[in-house]
Amino acid sequence: MKLVDNKATLSFSNGAPSVDLPVYAGNIGPDVIDIRKLYAQTGMFTYDPGFLSTASCQSAITYIDGDKGELLYRGYPIEQLATNCDYLDTCYLLLNGNLPNEGERKDFHKLVINHTMVHEQMQSFLKGFRRDAHPMAVLTGLVGAMSAFYHDSTDINNPEHRQIAAIRLIAKMPTLVAMAYKYGIGQPFVYPRNDLSYAGNFLRMMFANPCEDYVVNPVIERAVDRIFTLHADHEQNASTSTVRLCGSSGTNPFAAIAAGVACLWGPAHGGANEACLNMLEEIQASGGVSKVGEFMEKVKDKNSGVKLMGFGHRVYKNYDPRAKLMQETCNEVLAELGLENDPLFKLAKELEKIALEDDYFVQRKLYPNVDFYSGIVQRAIGIPVNLFTGIFALARTVGWIAQLNEMISDPEYKIGRPRQLFTGSVKRDVPPLAQR
Ligand SMILES: CC(C)(COP(=O)(O)OP(=O)(O)OC[C@H]1O[C@@H](n2cnc3c(N)ncnc32)[C@H](O)[C@@H]1OP(=O)(O)O)[C@@H](O)C(=O)NCCC(=O)NCCS
Repeated sequence: MKLVDNKATLSFSNGAPSVDLPVYAGNIGPDVIDIRKLYAQTGMFTYDPGFLSTASCQSAITYIDGDKGELLYRGYPIEQLATNCDYLDTCYLLLNGNLPNEGERKDFHKLVINHTMVHEQMQSFLKGFRRDAHPMAVLTGLVGAMSAFYHDSTDINNPEHRQIAAIRLIAKMPTLVAMAYKYGIGQPFVYPRNDLSYAGNFLRMMFANPCEDYVVNPVIERAVDRIFTLHADHEQNASTSTVRLCGSSGTNPFAAIAAGVACLWGPAHGGANEACLNMLEEIQASGGVSKVGEFMEKVKDKNSGVKLMGFGHRVYKNYDPRAKLMQETCNEVLAELGLENDPLFKLAKELEKIALEDDYFVQRKLYPNVDFYSGIVQRAIGIPVNLFTGIFALARTVGWIAQLNEMISDPEYKIGRPRQLFTGSVKRDVPPLAQR
């Protein structure tokens, strides 16, 4: 952190002494005011629910400029990574800080691809779930359970353990997601194959069965790899902050990542693409394109509680760069599969067109987010809607690990312990039962 030649002075109207607070600059982005000594100096806390103005850590992994619509992983624009690299290159970059050279790339791909199988007993654990359990419920359990299966990689303070856990998690997440899917539909699990790419292997584990193998279509393989790359990290969002907070107690890496999976499940976060597809299906069931106008009126009516899912973003107040890339992939996949005239996809295109032109959305800078298009792509590929968030979790696992490892290696890291503004009852005595 660079101390800048600019102090913030906090003064109080009640005459209490003012305090000077140091200011630090990042390499890009807003400076931060250091309030670590504020409580000691003033006896006061700051109040910032939802962390709208609070940097919870220093990080060198991902940078987002929401106004410009820019996303950088380790300095590289997402557009260049999505076009010139694959997901495993991106994983290497996020974990190690630099893109792999040819030899490093080969070794890293081999390392991950050779660790895709899970402990056979994991199947018995999985079989304890009801078949109709939501895949995110299953995944939260399976990822947490990895700590019970892989004892040699549970010490978060041991760099070697963290490295082994990282490779295990990245390698085995596709296997676990595909297993959760197969279990739900009552088909046998398909074992991974080391001669396929990371995305190709995932597609095969999802869609092959003992009666029929699955031939990987390169357009679909590229689309899935791109979904993974675009979701690999997104700096200090809710699930990543959850992973950091959970890991800050020194818990094992699998438990910390399981906490991230649980947080991602919510509809305001990773569950948005599922919510988006559900919304499309509801409009379709109620009359399709002819009902779009009526639906949009509801979206604009604040009392209706209806939101256009897949639109808007807390950070991006410009076009999400990932949405542009996903839109490109979406068009490619629909054309490859001959689905351009599918009613649901036509409906999605109509919503997109109206929202991009309508004053309500234009004035509020509400653009389609990555979930809008990734939901459509996944649906076109044949991935069931309730598995979308699981695929997001698979892709985000590397970001969570990179952020967790960064936190553990940070000399300034402390167990996370937010403060509160207490608004409950002041001290009182417990009345006898008859008087309550
Ligand atoms: C993502 C989201 C939670 C961001 O919320 P936020 O940061 O609180 O959004 P803002 O407060 O900047 O919203 C600004 C305005 O746009 C409106 N708005 C935001 N997203 C909207 C949407 N999807 N549909 C309709 N109106 C929306 C808000 O009601 C607010 O209106 P107002 O200024 O008249 O009160 C929100 O856009 C949303 O719920 N989107 C749908 C879910 C989704 O796709 N999530 C995926 C995120 S990756």
